[in-house]
Amino acid sequence: MMLGRSSIWQKLAAILVVSAFVAVQAEDPYRFYNWNVTYGDISPLGVRQQGILINGQFPGPDLYSVTNDNLIINVFNNLDEPFLLSWNGVQQRKNSYQDGVYGTTCPIPPGKNFTYTLQVKDQIGSFYYFPSLAFHKAAGGYGGIRILSRPKIPVPFPDPAGDFTVLIGDWFTTDHRVYT
Ligand SMILES: *[C@@H]1O[C@H](CO)[C@@H](O)[C@H](O)[C@H]1NC(C)=O
Ligand SMILES: *[C@@H]1O[C@H](CO)[C@@H](O)[C@H](O)[C@H]1NC(C)=O
Repeated sequence: MMLGRSSIWQKLAAILVVSAFVAVQAEDPYRFYNWNVTYGDISPLGVRQQGILINGQFPGPDLYSVTNDNLIINVFNNLDEPFLLSWNGVQQRKNSYQDGVYGTTCPIPPGKNFTYTLQVKDQIGSFYYFPSLAFHKAAGGYGGIRILSRPKIPVPFPDPAGDFTVLIGDWFTTDHRVYT
């Protein structure tokens, strides 16, 4: 009888060890996005001009994430020129070819899509993405990136009462292609 009982405890212990191992092995969460890049009218200086929109928005959608999330962003280039996004501040560990700088990442040809695969590994903070070719950034196509701390690792201050993305850029009332 004693032998039977101890073997049950042994089995339970074995199950606990195995499930702890499985928990450690669990993959970090994934977040999936589809972004459609188009031209559209915006009036940042009160004068209507052609801008670059993402899913019809300027600024582009905020990318919310938590430390270690995998971000899978499928970007459709519906401009009539190549387009490339860079992820400013994302460390891109072992992943520099996803950083969207011309030379390490190919531009997305007009009418095509490309899926960026990023992991915001071991970092927190506020960052931004922007188009890195030509004068695209002068026409929009950028937005905020938030990487929140994991709940397991609390930040040493109370939750903020509000949280806003502030993006600053230079503006001209001419089409971004005038100078390229
Ligand atoms: C992107 O938006 C354009 C213009 O609204 C539309 O014609 C196109 O089908 C959209 N593409 C995708 C992949 O959603
Ligand atoms: C383009 O988008 C399609 C449809 O979502 C997807 O299946 C495909 O993998 C994407 N191609 C690239 C190169 O990201």
